[in-house]
Amino acid sequence: MLGNCSLAELSRRRSHKWRTYPPEVLPAFVAEMDFTLAEPISDAIRAALAIGDTGYPHTGELGEAFASFAAGCLAWTPNKDWVFPVPDVMTGIAEVLVATTSPGSGVVISPPVYGPFFFRLGFLGRPVVEAPLRRLGDGSYEMDFDELDRALASPGVSAYLLCSPHNPLGQVWGGDQLLTIAELCQRHNVVLLVDEIHAPLVLPGTRFVPFGSLDHEMTERAWIFSSASKGWNLAGLKCGVAVAGSAPAAALLTERWEALLASHLGVLGSVAAFTRSLGWLDAVIAQIDHNRALLGRLLAEQLPDVGYAPGAASFLAWLDCTKLGLGEDPAAAFLARGRVALSPGTYFGAQGAGFARLNIGTSPELVTEAVHRMAAAVAAADSML
Ligand SMILES: Cc1ncc(COP(=O)(O)O)c(C=O)c1O
Repeated sequence: MLGNCSLAELSRRRSHKWRTYPPEVLPAFVAEMDFTLAEPISDAIRAALAIGDTGYPHTGELGEAFASFAAGCLAWTPNKDWVFPVPDVMTGIAEVLVATTSPGSGVVISPPVYGPFFFRLGFLGRPVVEAPLRRLGDGSYEMDFDELDRALASPGVSAYLLCSPHNPLGQVWGGDQLLTIAELCQRHNVVLLVDEIHAPLVLPGTRFVPFGSLDHEMTERAWIFSSASKGWNLAGLKCGVAVAGSAPAAALLTERWEALLASHLGVLGSVAAFTRSLGWLDAVIAQIDHNRALLGRLLAEQLPDVGYAPGAASFLAWLDCTKLGLGEDPAAAFLARGRVALSPGTYFGAQGAGFARLNIGTSPELVTEAVHRMAAAVAAADSML
């Protein structure tokens, strides 16, 4: 159902994942998946192209579509009139920060976390204030609320940007944790932005709690960002959603429509994703669930010194390679000696030194090939000692 992910087929793609490295490198870095597109999405795009429907976007059914997906799959009922298209999640976040915080004010993030959080905030002139996650002895992570409290209290801090579920860990925050975050943000009177882009891909065994579903006043003051771009692999179509928590917040997004123009094909594709592509999403979730277990087995057999705590969401595996003796950037060694491209851990902050992120949004065969190449790189490094 999801396609065979053959390298011959995939290497015809011209996206970032497939064109950054030469053909002999297996790409397993940027967060694109390898599956065949859900048919209702390709049908919607083809139908638009057939009638020259390639103009500026109209919000159309996006609000209803996202609200019905949220209600049916996430147990959250956002107001459909407060759901707005944005070109992508990062642009939505940036625009809201520009509108709600003053230049030079700090924004707290919790590394290791999605790399663009660091540099996009820098471009905006909003200095990053780190509240790092706490790493436990078993390799898992937890929110360090003392650190968060301290960071939010720092002079000039005006916002917290939360990643939920968390990239690169695949961690899903529980309701109690989210409530504590809400309390802290309320107490420090900061703007809260919640990036829920990976929420459609929460894996079996874990319940995702949308921030907007909490019983807390901060839900009215928080900005939630989601998208079909990760769950249905539509990043190239350029459409995400920003969900406002109140009428004034919705008015702010309405006013900024020109800065937030999504792609029209992205809106059409996202509506098809949120409404008619839920069976496809279930199949992807089942595949990733299978792949995370497979990855655990392959690492235990071939790279037992790599630490891997399988994520509860999405297709990104955070690998502790500190025991491999490959230095700060093991991804560089995997690329040079194994011809497999992972994301360097330090892309997610200094806390990622010695780590790498592997993309398992592909077939079991290509997950197996990636681990095989990583193991070959380690063997080559060992033989040079
Ligand atoms: C947590 C997170 N936020 C945002 C993005 C980027 O999304 P967009 O292309 O919609 O800006 C990604 C992409 O992987 C991500 O992992």
